[in-house]
Amino acid sequence: MRRFLIAGNWKMNSTSASAKELAQGLVDGVSLKDTDVEVLISPPFPYLSQVKSIVDGSPVQLGAQNAYFEAQGAFTGETSADMLTDIGCSHVILGHSERRHVLGESDEIINKKVHACLNEGLTVILCVGELLKDRESNQTESVLETQMKGGLKGVEAGAMGKIVIAYEPVWAIGTGVTASPEQAEAAHQFLRNWLSENYNAEVSEQMQILYGGSVKGSNANELLSQTNVDGALVGGASLKADQFLPIIEAAVGLSS
Ligand code: 13P
Repeated sequence: MRRFLIAGNWKMNSTSASAKELAQGLVDGVSLKDTDVEVLISPPFPYLSQVKSIVDGSPVQLGAQNAYFEAQGAFTGETSADMLTDIGCSHVILGHSERRHVLGESDEIINKKVHACLNEGLTVILCVGELLKDRESNQTESVLETQMKGGLKGVEAGAMGKIVIAYEPVWAIGTGVTASPEQAEAAHQFLRNWLSENYNAEVSEQMQILYGGSVKGSNANELLSQTNVDGALVGGASLKADQFLPIIEAAVGLSS
């Protein structure tokens, strides 16, 4: 059985003080014992170490929002996968739509980052998702296919246990508009079939496929109830413990 993963992506939000308070609020409020639920938070880079010291010893795992594909050297402003493992990150988010569409990352660059992070033992949350215009012109599946093919190029089946897919329709991110449970399930089913056809049945069955896009406490249960939705990648609602904890609780309720 697949475990749920509820992941918070703080994006470029918080201060040193609010990061500590939020992390502490989650550690105090979360209870995952004997459940099939994993919880992860991804603060901005400057706060990773201090958040790590708060979540250490708790079930809350730590992820980064990006990494560079080179190991070290003259790459001003970049952070390597090795640095992330060094400070205790277990996961990294790659290919987020904001990095694709605001910062211009191509599938080729994302793929290099995927390899660099897998080589360092990080679990990669690879984000894919279509723009509104893609959905309106019936291109959703071909966009997802291109992003999966490009992002996972050269990744062998044996490494796929360290990949998580996040389906984040761009039109649902930060807009308050959530994909309907049926729309999410259809996209997740497509992604799972793609994994089966391009890898094998085992990889497809075991893959955690998260949904992201305006997930909140009030809609988490119906989204997570879908057969192929194995968790959530949460932006806005991950910035307050009293909004993130109910999403975790929805997963806990469904897993027991
Ligand atoms: P929101 O939950 O704010 O829509 O953001 C989703 C997201 O981009 C998570 O990575």
